Amino acid sequence: MLKSIANAVDILKRGGVVAFPTETVYGLGARLGDPAAIQKIFSIKGRPSDNPLIVHIADFNQLKLLARHVPASAKKLAARFWPGPLTLVLKRSASVSSSVTAGLDTVAVRMPKHPLALELIRELGEPVVAPSANLSGRPSSTHYRDVIRELGNKVDLVLKGGKSESGLESTVVNLTRTPPRLLRPGTITMETLKKFLPELTLAAKSKSGSAASPGMKHRHYQPRCKVIMVKREQWAETIAGWTKKNLRLGVIAYDQRIPTSKNIVLKKIHHDKRDYARSLYSDFFQAEKSRVDVLLVESISKKGIGLAIMDRLSRASENGSSLRS
Ligand code: TXA
Ligand code: MG
Repeated sequence: MLKSIANAVDILKRGGVVAFPTETVYGLGARLGDPAAIQKIFSIKGRPSDNPLIVHIADFNQLKLLARHVPASAKKLAARFWPGPLTLVLKRSASVSSSVTAGLDTVAVRMPKHPLALELIRELGEPVVAPSANLSGRPSSTHYRDVIRELGNKVDLVLKGGKSESGLESTVVNLTRTPPRLLRPGTITMETLKKFLPELTLAAKSKSGSAASPGMKHRHYQPRCKVIMVKREQWAETIAGWTKKNLRLGVIAYDQRIPTSKNIVLKKIHHDKRDYARSLYSDFFQAEKSRVDVLLVESISKKGIGLAIMDRLSRASENGSSLRS
């Protein structure tokens, strides 16, 4: 066993919290059976207590202990997509404490693909409860350097596993209702899932207390600069308009050119959607490092992985966080 894994297991067993890599984003983990450590996660993140956590497993048999009932649809999806970036919401068993599920009768479970995450769960011998390793409302961390900068001394250990492969949080599907619902889009797309779940519907975006998934009503993914989405048709004139103002601008484009201007201090051009997704949160952090006032990001079609990118972009640009706030 890797020394760092042994160390992480030891810390978790003593009630600590450990940040670890997954193929989506980094997670901030505690032992499933340790309500005090789970409480620490909420307080480190400043996470609202009504927002439940995901339980990470390394073996399909662990699911049977967490869920009261494992429907055929869950077996089918798990067989195809686990380990991988898909989270399934099922009816919870009594072995899952309400500190994990924020009082809900359901539990969200996924089997991550990153080898360090799997090894950690296997060596611990029990599931690891983990939200994304970021302060509540902030962009998620896709590299251990982001975790250290954002959460640093608040966590007991950060396992270093390189850059997250997909860069956006997992796709979340609620299988406890008919028809099943997509609660959070991710890199496993609606189109792909529909081949397995033809009835799948998209949860409406809502900020009210009746949100389909508790996490959907909270502020999310917001860097410390104003994020403005720009449509392709209005690209050239919108960028030109902003460059006339005395502001530091960042621009993220999808396969098109960015004009030259002394006010544009950060330029990112992505040539495919996977790349756009993979780099989105690190682009946000770079904008902060470059002291960008306004980040202009290109809207893209909601097809395929575009749905997940547009979901994160629209949440990041919501409430228009004020300039330099
Ligand atoms: O990719 C990921 O899912 C990452 C890595 C670390 O696994 N984790 C992650 O966790 O993004 P978090 O806590 O940032 O997001 C979990 C989402 C939230 O929107 C939460 O509301 C939702 O899953 N969720 C958790 N349990 C739920 C439940 N029982 N019913 C409905 N939604 C649930
Ligand atoms: Mg999160």
